[in-house]
Amino acid sequence: MMHVSLRQLRTFEAVARLKNFSRAAEELHVTQPTVSKQIRLLHEEVGLPLLEQIGKKIFLTEAGEQLYATCADWLETWGCFEQTVADLKGIKQGRLRIAAVTTAKYFMPRLLGPFCAQYPGIDIAMEVVNRDRLLERLARNQDDLYVMGVPPDGLDIECEPFLENPLVVLAPASHPLARRKRIPFAHLANEPFIVRERGSGTRLTVERVFQERDVPLKIKMELGSNEAIKQAVAGGLGLAILSQSTLSLDPNQTEVAVLNVESFPIKRYWYVVRQRDKQLSVVANAFLEFLRTHVQLLKPRN
Ligand code: PGA
Repeated sequence: MMHVSLRQLRTFEAVARLKNFSRAAEELHVTQPTVSKQIRLLHEEVGLPLLEQIGKKIFLTEAGEQLYATCADWLETWGCFEQTVADLKGIKQGRLRIAAVTTAKYFMPRLLGPFCAQYPGIDIAMEVVNRDRLLERLARNQDDLYVMGVPPDGLDIECEPFLENPLVVLAPASHPLARRKRIPFAHLANEPFIVRERGSGTRLTVERVFQERDVPLKIKMELGSNEAIKQAVAGGLGLAILSQSTLSLDPNQTEVAVLNVESFPIKRYWYVVRQRDKQLSVVANAFLEFLRTHVQLLKPRN
């Protein structure tokens, strides 16, 4: 009988999925040497190589592939057991796992603070990633709930809209368009844009909006952070289209202006998403209910 710990299996699952030790360490909130040690112990116990490193790339051996498939099942079963125990205890204690897209970090903490105050026994793990990474997590059933602006088509999921998520056009406050009213959409074709990285929900929507109107999008720069984009706009590098949520903490900012462009703000929503056939834990249900009843905490205060 092999002596393998749940921790080793969790570590192996993350390394095998991400094919990267440092990303696995980041996801598990441990150091890279800890990941290497867990994998080494697992190798010793199994007695066969599980991973192969060729150059910088990591590959799974045949035994590794088998273990990876087994791990996914075990971890799911163990998660169900932990959930059952928490449910039997009648919660309100346990762990809530949420994954939210990058832009949701502007408002989710405003909800999590009061939620934790009401349920001090619940600890929360919130992963903040872009839309593509979030969809990977959803496909692997890694979290209880997902918060995103553009739910995917074709998956067996339930999506509940809970808050408006309009997209607005930003320009430097000194830009000549900042004083104009009803700027025609086609006018945007003349302007350079700073956009989010591929894989972001914002980027996806911006591209769709320009495509639908058959207007070319002139991309001057691509940045992976909403804050960096706002700084670049303020610095005069171009215009940007971002979720209004990125402005809500700072409604009085004076360096960037929201332009009055035809069709804007583009109406969208924030959704809380979950797998349809997933039995939600009492903790996750408590959070969903809290979200529905405290949504006013998330609305911009201006
Ligand atoms: P993003 O998603 O942070 O991945 O751009 C935001 C959104 O979909 O509104």
